[in-house]
Amino acid sequence: MLWKNNQVFCNVPLPKADDRPLIVSHPGAHGNYLASWNVMVDHGEPFVLVCDDLGPAYPDGWWAQHSNNGMEYFARLQNPQGVGQAYRNPDLTFQNLLVHRGLEANKGMEDFPLIDIMYVDFIDIFLTHNGEPDWKPTFMAAAPKMVEKVRDGGVLIIDRKNVHEDYDQWLQFPEGEFEVSPGITLEHVGKGEWLILDVELNGGKNEIEAEVFRVSNSNSLGNPDDFLVTLMKERRLAPEDLEELKGTLPERWPEHPTHEEYCERLFNHYDHPNLFERPNYPEPLESSWKSEQYDEWLQWLIDHPDKLRSVERNERIMQMGNTKVRLVHGDILEHLDWLSLKNASLCVRRNLRVVCLEENIFLTKNAVNLQPFFNWKRPVANLIWSGPDATPNLTRELLRLSKSNVLATISHGLATLDELEAALIDYDGHVEELIIFHLDEVDYR
Ligand SMILES: C[S@@+](CC[C@H](N)C(=O)[O-])C[C@H]1O[C@@H](n2cnc3c(N)ncnc32)[C@H](O)[C@@H]1O
Repeated sequence: MLWKNNQVFCNVPLPKADDRPLIVSHPGAHGNYLASWNVMVDHGEPFVLVCDDLGPAYPDGWWAQHSNNGMEYFARLQNPQGVGQAYRNPDLTFQNLLVHRGLEANKGMEDFPLIDIMYVDFIDIFLTHNGEPDWKPTFMAAAPKMVEKVRDGGVLIIDRKNVHEDYDQWLQFPEGEFEVSPGITLEHVGKGEWLILDVELNGGKNEIEAEVFRVSNSNSLGNPDDFLVTLMKERRLAPEDLEELKGTLPERWPEHPTHEEYCERLFNHYDHPNLFERPNYPEPLESSWKSEQYDEWLQWLIDHPDKLRSVERNERIMQMGNTKVRLVHGDILEHLDWLSLKNASLCVRRNLRVVCLEENIFLTKNAVNLQPFFNWKRPVANLIWSGPDATPNLTRELLRLSKSNVLATISHGLATLDELEAALIDYDGHVEELIIFHLDEVDYR
């Protein structure tokens, strides 16, 4: 609902975007990201909501506060590239994504190519305290930074949650269209009011009140697809990889309890209430997507390859005995999404393993721990990775340890084709495909 000159309108005029989700920023949101989330749910258009805060309020950090009637509402997805945590609600019928980044908001702003909707409830973060004892934040001082990335036709929403009613300048602005910085003007559209449709706000408010400004911006801005690629792994895959994903659902966050675990705990509690407490977290969702919608989205991406930024693989494929061998010239770290898609078993030394799993936690379940802390637990005794003194039959050892039928490792031993051929020619174990990444051009020639 929009109030304008004492007249009331059904809708707040928020922008739409063709061929992509709206990019919404809510800096310093903390728990109030639920307000911008609700506004976007009410808008009903595909969106990604990015909240940069020095200390984000992750929905899975404080379960009880971020669920909906005892049900998990935000299902966690693979982390965005770089920094942050990502979540999605599978029940909304349009594309949605919540990203929390532990970032200083002005620094985070540099990453946005453009912003369609800028949602602000705390203007202070765009201002520097000038040291005067009676310093107060003012809307006009914060405005240039707040809207520098908002595209032409975009909107600035100032949530009245923290407006100092006793201090007018917090939200004082000129009438009509007014310039805030070279090429950028704002115009007050009216006062927006939204009822809470989906997740309840913390603190029990049941309505959002905000001032809405239309932004005109003649400055050039960046390419939104380049940014979206950093948030969603599917946009970093090739069309043929996306084809393989069809019919599957993104896995749940591996460190969260599954639905079965939740039910087991709940039934234990029902059977023996004195022995088992009721689970103190919400009932988990099956997945972050509904299968039909996921397939539709994958098909849409396949049909719009210009939206993808697939990581190219410089590879040679050969058959050695029963095993398909893929020699990829490049850094394994750039191909983790693809390895995860292939359900590959990662088998590398400790330091690299740690980095890979930090980047992509979904590889953990099939990753081999070659160098556990205790020596007596090490699956390969006296491991020497490369060179003439390398552990004998190392490729065979790695194949033996693989937890799936696709083994992923990096060049090892003497890194020659002869050595590989000798290991594989009469191999008839469970590994059907061996992927070896090598940085050295001359390896396996
Ligand atoms: C007063 S609280 C407001 C929280 C929330 N927006 C609300 O209204 O309930 C300020 C929030 O802004 C964050 N914050 C303060 N300065 C920041 C900055 N420079 N960059 C990012 N976040 C900042 C804090 O971590 C905190 O979560």
